[in-house]
Amino acid sequence: MPASPIRKLVPYAEEAVKKGKSIYYLNIGQPDIKTPEIALQAIKECNIDILAYSRSEGSETYRQKISAYYSKHNIHVTHDDIVVTTGGSEALLFAFGSIMDVDDEIIIPEPFYANYNGFSTASGVKVVPVISKIENNFALPPIEAFEKLITPKTKAILICNPGNPTGYLYSKEEIQKLAAIVKKHDLFLIADEVYREFVYDGNTHYSVMQETGLEDHTIMIDSVSKRYSMCGARVGCLVSKNKTLIQTVLKFAQARLSPPTLAQIASEAALETPQSYFDAVIEEYVERRNTLISELQKIDGVKIAKPKGAFYCIVELPIKNSDDFAQWLLENFDVNGETIMVAPAGGFYSTANVGLNQIRIAYVLKKESLIKAVNILKEALKVYNN
Ligand SMILES: Cc1ncc(COP(=O)(O)O)c(C=O)c1O
Repeated sequence: MPASPIRKLVPYAEEAVKKGKSIYYLNIGQPDIKTPEIALQAIKECNIDILAYSRSEGSETYRQKISAYYSKHNIHVTHDDIVVTTGGSEALLFAFGSIMDVDDEIIIPEPFYANYNGFSTASGVKVVPVISKIENNFALPPIEAFEKLITPKTKAILICNPGNPTGYLYSKEEIQKLAAIVKKHDLFLIADEVYREFVYDGNTHYSVMQETGLEDHTIMIDSVSKRYSMCGARVGCLVSKNKTLIQTVLKFAQARLSPPTLAQIASEAALETPQSYFDAVIEEYVERRNTLISELQKIDGVKIAKPKGAFYCIVELPIKNSDDFAQWLLENFDVNGETIMVAPAGGFYSTANVGLNQIRIAYVLKKESLIKAVNILKEALKVYNN
């Protein structure tokens, strides 16, 4: 199993903190946004005698309410098309397990969410990357690039929309191009849409589930983690209109018995979160993104693709090895006792030796902290490169 590039530097960070340094954590997508009160209240007011297992596919009322939430997003599914999982992470594992055998292949545009590498390794599946480039703002590579990679072992294409770590938002036309490929080659299209709400600049999100005629091919991965800043709830879901697939996923769900019961109660309540909560959150992230980008642009030799969604961006730095740089920042550098923790981007690629001069930054901190953090990065580059 590959170590997560997002978490592997934690021991160095702990050591730095022991030595009295403060750290701006730009490495992990743990938002500092408050969880909706309505969800926290549901836990406080929960009056149950036995914290029992729930149904393996998740509580029926919760699934019914999720389908109502989806219909507001023009995604028309019933509760039977939904299996509640322990985070989007488990939904991804169930999807991999249900559609692929050992040695099968999955095509993923890279850079991609680093744990796709881990889930593929755990499932014995080979990731076949198709490279999207920072120079192109990480747009979908040309269709021919996908078709060249399809072999008899290819079972699926996986996209993340909007993207972690790129912040890229796929257009309706791009989704339709992918739809044409998966139909032609009889593949699955897995779309990780856990950042659906986080779309900026007046753009709209187009889900794979909105594409008609693709019902048997699409699998959507979702989660409450980011939407409601409920990462610790560990509730997600897998959605598909392919009945055979859902029956298979259910066998995986039965093997692990139940998704978390208490967290489903909170997640069900969270669905009542008013739109005003999201409006405020989006406004906050747009401001953070704009601050981050404009501060980074002040540093010589830095390349950035402006994110259109989610809350991450890939930053290319004038260095050779971001693993070394990220560790050095924690071990050997500070500005008045403060340093930063970043995720080296190599782990977001499965192609060897790509992205070694890149880092991923999660803009999950307040504007003032982001300004200080980028200043530390700027000073660090001056010292590191000498
Ligand atoms: C793209 C993407 N998919 C899935 C997940 C899994 O999240 P969770 O298991 O908390 O739902 C994450 C978490 O950061 C993510 O960024």
